[in-house]
Amino acid sequence: MVYVINIIIILVILSVAKLALISIVFYSDIRALQKRDPAAKSFLEVVLLYQGLHALIFYRIAHVLYNLHLFLLARALSQLARFLTGIEIHPGARIGKRFFVDHGMGVVIGETTVIGNDVLLYQGSTLGGTGIVKGKRHPTIGNNVVVGAGAKVLGNITIGDNSYIGANAVVIKDVPANSTVVGVPGRITKQDGKKMDVSLDHVHILDPIMQTIEELQDRVKDLEKK
Ligand SMILES: CC(C)(COP(=O)(O)OP(=O)(O)OC[C@H]1O[C@@H](n2cnc3c(N)ncnc32)[C@H](O)[C@@H]1OP(=O)(O)O)[C@@H](O)C(=O)NCCC(=O)NCCS
Repeated sequence: MVYVINIIIILVILSVAKLALISIVFYSDIRALQKRDPAAKSFLEVVLLYQGLHALIFYRIAHVLYNLHLFLLARALSQLARFLTGIEIHPGARIGKRFFVDHGMGVVIGETTVIGNDVLLYQGSTLGGTGIVKGKRHPTIGNNVVVGAGAKVLGNITIGDNSYIGANAVVIKDVPANSTVVGVPGRITKQDGKKMDVSLDHVHILDPIMQTIEELQDRVKDLEKK
């Protein structure tokens, strides 16, 4: 009996020590997460229950293993994290400070992805490749970027700082800093705080098919009025 109690006490001490270690090492990530998610009520809630944080912890360890060329072990850890959290981060990806995945389920981050500081990803977003090319084939995401739920950012493209990728957008071309992108394929609707007049902006037109459809819709509206 005493033996069992001793084991329980040791397990409790180890768990508390683990929580304390996580709280210290990931302090700035946890605080940033609390700031960005109004639903996060306490520090402890984030540490215990936020799978975005848990996936990040697994990733940080897996990334160290990857850099030590222990690829199989690194990949095994990232697959375990995927099983437990629903978030798949390849250990080869490079992720900056205060990274936050909100809700998490269905997020995929490819091997050659580079992510800056203060980036927020929502559930279902993908930072992926477009084919089976080798080398850098995943996006580079700047600082302070938000990728909305279900959005796909594909290929070796760059998303500029402070940009916002709308929910369910599919982005396949570079996005300048301070832009908002929506739709499939993604088109810039706002830049530097100003709405873009797509019909006059010949530099940022990303989708001629969409433009043609919009023109046809306008003509149909005109005809209907007549
Ligand atoms: C894109 C987004 C950031 C809005 O940015 P915004 O600059 O405030 O944009 P606006 O609301 O002024 O909308 C601009 C245009 O884009 C359209 N739009 C906005 N979001 C869109 C989206 N996700 N997909 C397609 N079109 C979208 C609007 O209807 C509007 O069209 P209009 O100019 O023809 O009227 C926001 O809609 C979004 O998608 N956020 C993601 C949030 C998310 O994933 N949350 C998950 C929580 S669990």
